[in-house]
Amino acid sequence: MRQIRTAWPEAGAYVYEEIDSTNLEVIRRGKEGAPEGTLIAAEKQSAGRGRRGRTWISPYGVAMYMSVLLRPTLPVNAAHILTPVSAFAICEVLQKEGIEAQIKWPNDVVIHGKKVCGILCELTITAPREYFLVTGIGININNREFAPEAGVNGTSLYLETGREYDRETIAEAVMEAYRRYYERVNAAGSLEPIREAFEARLVNRDKTVRVLDPAGEWTGTARGISPMGELLVETADGSLKAVSAGEVSVRGVYGYTE
Ligand code: BTN
Repeated sequence: MRQIRTAWPEAGAYVYEEIDSTNLEVIRRGKEGAPEGTLIAAEKQSAGRGRRGRTWISPYGVAMYMSVLLRPTLPVNAAHILTPVSAFAICEVLQKEGIEAQIKWPNDVVIHGKKVCGILCELTITAPREYFLVTGIGININNREFAPEAGVNGTSLYLETGREYDRETIAEAVMEAYRRYYERVNAAGSLEPIREAFEARLVNRDKTVRVLDPAGEWTGTARGISPMGELLVETADGSLKAVSAGEVSVRGVYGYTE
């Protein structure tokens, strides 16, 4: 992989042949005081991390695994809104490539209902009211196949379009878009600057969703998102319930998105 430009020219970008996890490397560097925008990318991860403690299977040379260090001024309890911002930025980049991508709330990027990208944001508290955030992005780009453990919901840009893409160009465009929207949302303190455009990309919008609440599963119709990133789900009695990503998962009625 060639060198990648970070969207923060004052910060460094480091590309590894192999690493345990690009998120872990950013956390290590963040603790040592690395500046905002520090970018770590790798050809392969031996211990790629997914959401909910899952493993992100990370084969060599076909996908993009990258993580960026952010030092937001948002209060720590609002930092989670920067996860959907990255999904939004990725959709914009894919759109410019002529690929119709959507967001499966809160932060999977999907094409034709299949997951093409996963995002894992991890927060490290460094002092009272001081923290940094790592946004880790895994984009399936030129993958031709998936390990059976990766499940049936995965796809890649290649599998959807029949074209090979330059991974570094995509990575640089994603970072540029992420910086732009991150700065707006961080300054506003909410998703308001991108909320409507985000809703327009929601694969679940106006669809029946199954809310996998540990306290009891229920169904409703997804209507949009709140300024703090919760999914707004209309229940049978017509009221709107705000569902937060840390607490529940959402599925389509028949499968992953539909
Ligand atoms: C998910 O479970 O959907 C999130 C997957 C996130 C994977 C990316 S790959 C780059 C970065 N480094 C990691 O260890 N995980 C994230």
